[in-house]
Amino acid sequence: MCGIIGYIGQENVYPILIQGLQRLEYRGYDSAGIAILNGSLKVFKCKGRVSDLEQHVKDEDISGTIGIGHTRWATHGEPNDRNAHPHTSMNGKFVLVHNGIIENHTELKTDLMKNGFRFQSETDTEVLVNLIEYFYSKGEAIDGEMAIRLALSKVVGAYGIAVICTKEKDQLIVARKGSPLVIGVGEGSYFIASDASPIIPYTRNMIYLNDNDVAIINRQGLILKTVENIPAVFNITKVSMTIGEIEKGDFDHFMLKEIFEQPKIIEETFRGRITSDHSTIILGGLMDVFPKLLSAQRIIIIGCGTSWHAALVGEYLIETYARIPVEVEYASEFRYRNPILTNTDVVIAISQSGETADTLAAIRMAKANGATVLGICNVVGSTIARETEGGVFTHAGIEIGVASTKAFTAQVTVLTLLALKLAKENEKMTQETYQCLIQELINVPAKVQSILQKHLHIKEVASKYKKATNALYLGRGLLFPVALEGALKLKEISYLHAEGYAAGEMKHGPIALVDDNLPVVVVAARDDYYTKIVSNIHEVKARKGNIIAVVTEGDNNLNSLVNDLFEIPESHPIVTPILAIIPLQLFSYYIAVSRGCNVDQPRNLAKSVTVE
Ligand code: G6P
Repeated sequence: MCGIIGYIGQENVYPILIQGLQRLEYRGYDSAGIAILNGSLKVFKCKGRVSDLEQHVKDEDISGTIGIGHTRWATHGEPNDRNAHPHTSMNGKFVLVHNGIIENHTELKTDLMKNGFRFQSETDTEVLVNLIEYFYSKGEAIDGEMAIRLALSKVVGAYGIAVICTKEKDQLIVARKGSPLVIGVGEGSYFIASDASPIIPYTRNMIYLNDNDVAIINRQGLILKTVENIPAVFNITKVSMTIGEIEKGDFDHFMLKEIFEQPKIIEETFRGRITSDHSTIILGGLMDVFPKLLSAQRIIIIGCGTSWHAALVGEYLIETYARIPVEVEYASEFRYRNPILTNTDVVIAISQSGETADTLAAIRMAKANGATVLGICNVVGSTIARETEGGVFTHAGIEIGVASTKAFTAQVTVLTLLALKLAKENEKMTQETYQCLIQELINVPAKVQSILQKHLHIKEVASKYKKATNALYLGRGLLFPVALEGALKLKEISYLHAEGYAAGEMKHGPIALVDDNLPVVVVAARDDYYTKIVSNIHEVKARKGNIIAVVTEGDNNLNSLVNDLFEIPESHPIVTPILAIIPLQLFSYYIAVSRGCNVDQPRNLAKSVTVE
C-alpha cells in the first residue's frame, strides 16, 4: 500500500528515485511523484504509473542529490494529480510522502483551517504536512525535526513518512508507526524505502525502523530517536537478496517467473529443516516454543488473502495428522471480534510480507490477551517476523507479482513440515510413516517441475475459457482451500468473477449457476474424498457445465465426464495441495494474459496491505 523512496548523498537523485519507484510499484500504482531539493524545491507528480511520471518530467530540470518519491494506492481521495504525493505544506516549508492512514485527519484539518491553513487535496497526508508546518511556525526554538515529532504525537493512525524541510537543506527525516520503512546505509549516502528491494542495487546494509522511530539523516550520518525524543539504538542488518531476484529475467511477467521458481523455492523452504538421513524435521525458530505448541488447547491460524488459504490447508494438515484442534480466522475479523483467548492458545500468523496491517493488529491483540504468538513469514526483518515469539521463515525470496504464487506453496510447505513434526512429537505418527511422508515432501519439487513442463497444454486450455464471465472452483478436504486459492488467482488478475466452494456445498446454492456457459474447475486428485468429488462432477455434468478437472496422472475414469484435464503426479494426499495449485496458477495467468490484463499489477490491488 503505497511505496516510499528517498535518497540523500552525492549522486544524482532522479534515477535512484525513479528506479526505486519502479521496484515499489507493486505496492500501488494510482499515481506517482517525486520532490527534489536543489537550492529550491521541485515537485513533480501525476496520476498513473511511474512511466507516466517519467513522461511528465522529461523536459524538466531534475538535478539534485536529495529527494523523496511515492507511488500511491489511494485511500483518501480519488487517484488524480492533486491527490498524488509528495504533498507540500501551505507555505512550502515542508514536503512529505506518506504510506498509511491518519485516522484523525478530519479533526486535525478542522483545527488547521481555523488557524488559516488551506488545502489543495482530499488526502490525510496533506493534513499531516500542514500540521508539521503549523508547529514549525510556532517559534524559532522549533526546528524541522521537533515540528515533525510534535505533529506525530498528535496523530492517530499509521504512517511511514519521509520529509524534507526546505529550510534545512541537507537533511531528510523519516519516521514510522505501523507502515514499514527501511534505511539503506551507503558511503556518505542513505537510501530510504518501504522495503529493501529498491535499495539493494546500492547497498545491502539495512536499518529496519521500529514503530515510533524517527531518523534524522544527513550525508555524515543519522540519529535515531523516538517521537518522544528519547535516543534509540539501531542495528545494521545485511540482507542477502540479490538483484536477480528483483528482475524479470526472460519471463514476460514476474508472476510467471515466480510460478516457475516454485520447485526451487519449495526445496529452499524444506532444505536444512530435514536431517540428511531424512528421519527428522528440525524447525529451529520453534524450538523454544514447541512444548507450548504440543500442549496448546488449540492453535489459531490467522492471515489474509492467499495466506488465509494456506492457513486453511494448515488446519486440515495439523488436525488430521497431529490431532491438535485448529481454528482459522481472517485477521481482519479476529482482531475486532473480541475472541476468547487464554495462555493455552497458540496463534500462528501467516503473512508473506510480514506487514499486513490486520494481521499485525491481530497478533498484537492476541499477545495482549496472553496467547503465544508465532509467525510464518517470508520477509526477514518484517514487523510480524520481529513481533512474534518464534516462527518459521518461508524461503520464497522476494515476491513481486501482486497475485501470490510461490509464497503460497512455500507457506504450505512450512505447514506440512509443522504438521508432520507435531504429529511425530505428539505420538500420533509412527517413525516409519513420518519418514515416508518426509520423503513425499522431498519428492515435491521434481513433481512441480513436471507439472510446469505442461504449461503449453494449460495455455491452450486457458485460451478456450478466456471469454467466460464466471467460474466456479470446487474441492474437498485438503483440496477445498486449493479451490479457493485457484478462484482467487483468477479473480485477482483476470477480473473474472470466480467462486471457490467446498464441493459438498455446491448443491446448496452454486449449482443454480451451472449451465453450458459456466466453467467449473474441479480439484479431483485421488485422495480420501475422491469418490465424493466424482459424484459432484456428475452433478455438474448433468447440468451441462464445462468441467476442467485437476486429476492424478493415469486417472482415466473422468475422461468422458470432463472437458479438459490438468494432470498432477501421483502422490500422498499430504502434498497434493502444493501440486494441485500449480496448474490453477498457470490457468489464471494465461487467461489474464489472453484478456490483455496487467498480470503483475492488477487494478485496485496492492501487494502489501499496510492499511486496514
Ligand atoms: C494482499 C495481496 C495478497 C496477499 C494478502 C495478504 O491482498 O495482494 O497476495 O495474500 O495481501 O498478504 P500477506 O503479505 O500478509 O501474506
